[in-house]
Amino acid sequence: MPSTKPTIEINKNILEMEYAVRGPIPQRAAKLKSEGKKIISCNIGNPQALGQAPMTYYRQVLSLVEDPSKIARERELKNIFEASPFSKLQDEDFISEDILALSESILAKTEKGVGAYTESKGYLFVREAVADFINRRDGFSSGSGLAANPENIFLTDGASDGAKRILNLLIAKKTDGIMIPIPQYPLYSASVKMYGGVQVNYYPNEDQDWALGREELENSHAEAVAEGVNVKAIVVINPGNPTGAILDAASIHEVLSFAKKHGLAIIADEVYQENLYGGEFVSFAKALGDEKSVPIFSLHSISKGFYGECGHRGGYLEVRNPPQIAGTELNFVDLLLKQASVSLCANTVGQIITYLMVSPPEARNTEHNNFIAEKEKILGELYEKATMIREAFKEMEGVEVFGKTGAMYLFPRLNKLPAGTDDFDYCMALLEETGLSTVNGSGFGQKEGTYHLRIAFLPSKDLLTEVLPEWIAFHNKYVNN
Ligand SMILES: Cc1ncc(COP(=O)(O)O)c(C=O)c1O
Repeated sequence: MPSTKPTIEINKNILEMEYAVRGPIPQRAAKLKSEGKKIISCNIGNPQALGQAPMTYYRQVLSLVEDPSKIARERELKNIFEASPFSKLQDEDFISEDILALSESILAKTEKGVGAYTESKGYLFVREAVADFINRRDGFSSGSGLAANPENIFLTDGASDGAKRILNLLIAKKTDGIMIPIPQYPLYSASVKMYGGVQVNYYPNEDQDWALGREELENSHAEAVAEGVNVKAIVVINPGNPTGAILDAASIHEVLSFAKKHGLAIIADEVYQENLYGGEFVSFAKALGDEKSVPIFSLHSISKGFYGECGHRGGYLEVRNPPQIAGTELNFVDLLLKQASVSLCANTVGQIITYLMVSPPEARNTEHNNFIAEKEKILGELYEKATMIREAFKEMEGVEVFGKTGAMYLFPRLNKLPAGTDDFDYCMALLEETGLSTVNGSGFGQKEGTYHLRIAFLPSKDLLTEVLPEWIAFHNKYVNN
């Protein structure tokens, strides 16, 4: 009997695109977990899923903005308890006046609260705060030619949303190419595929701590052009995912001069700008200075850093030097606005957390000390955990890791694997043996003939203390089989 199930033809690009971070190894991990095996999920940068506590400052404001009736109630309760001789409650048991006042001021700026659609670009007061943040971070004086323009800032449902919006607009023809670092975060390869463009690989130099060399950029560009590709943009992820590497100023200036020479736009994915453990972050906006000929799209997000609010989906996209749209009076920002209008607006809660991310409590605020203590604890522990894993690599035969520690990942090279096996086999065997879920290097792309894995250094120190000796034992047995 012929099947009665309906069939349908779909966009082949989506059928063919791949996304290893949620690919076969995590799927197998989910299956093992459902069968009762203890799984340690190091396959994704999802901090709160691995026990990282949310920042109190963000969550208190968020709860009050979601339920404004609790602001007056909190004040009233505090008054009652303060006047009561029987109360054992202290000042710190109540939400501080600074938080209550901040929540009120945010609500006043939203006008109707967070249940209403916002402007397509996002709340203006948040975009202004983002512009101030960029100016403070990069040392631009407001009102100067370099100052960020809130009209060129779009609030997004995470950086992924921002990246997809740009790629969707840039890829106009099948021959349009986007340069992507290899290894890369698969958002880029998947989106270029989805929008029907050409992925043009370039390879940062692993042995030189993943620095970018001009010769490599030129060769990759020239090869693509020789094959008929119209290269339009270059993606740079700094600090890197999966490598965790922090780009030095020389590499950033090399990319700028390369982009200028070939008329390329730069997509600067800077979501890990707070995750630096020994290197300095230089933004592309700052490095660009007053150069007017290179369009830059920079992305930031509430998902990473010490905030780790991935599930809330928030972030921004800043455009510098927006290009004119060929054959029209419009420029790129006009089109981004048109495109954003179709989805009405980014989610409001994500917009509010973006506001809080770019406006931390000031030193005179009662929240300041607690905020700094929580931030330093999270970042300090991330570094300790990365160091524990790096130390374990020293006991594994043939394992090397390059670059300063940044982002949330280590990307060790596996120089010794049994004949006929690759990093996918290794990661699957590691999962089955120890419950450690990592991602094979091939999921991000890698130089032919090399093998890697990516591990997110997010599980608790206790879990790492338990699993690292098991990993070392597994490794040294596996590679000698
Ligand atoms: C380099 C990079 N860009 C973007 C994202 C996605 O960020 P968001 O959660 O803001 O969409 C990730 C997530 O891991 C990432 O590693």
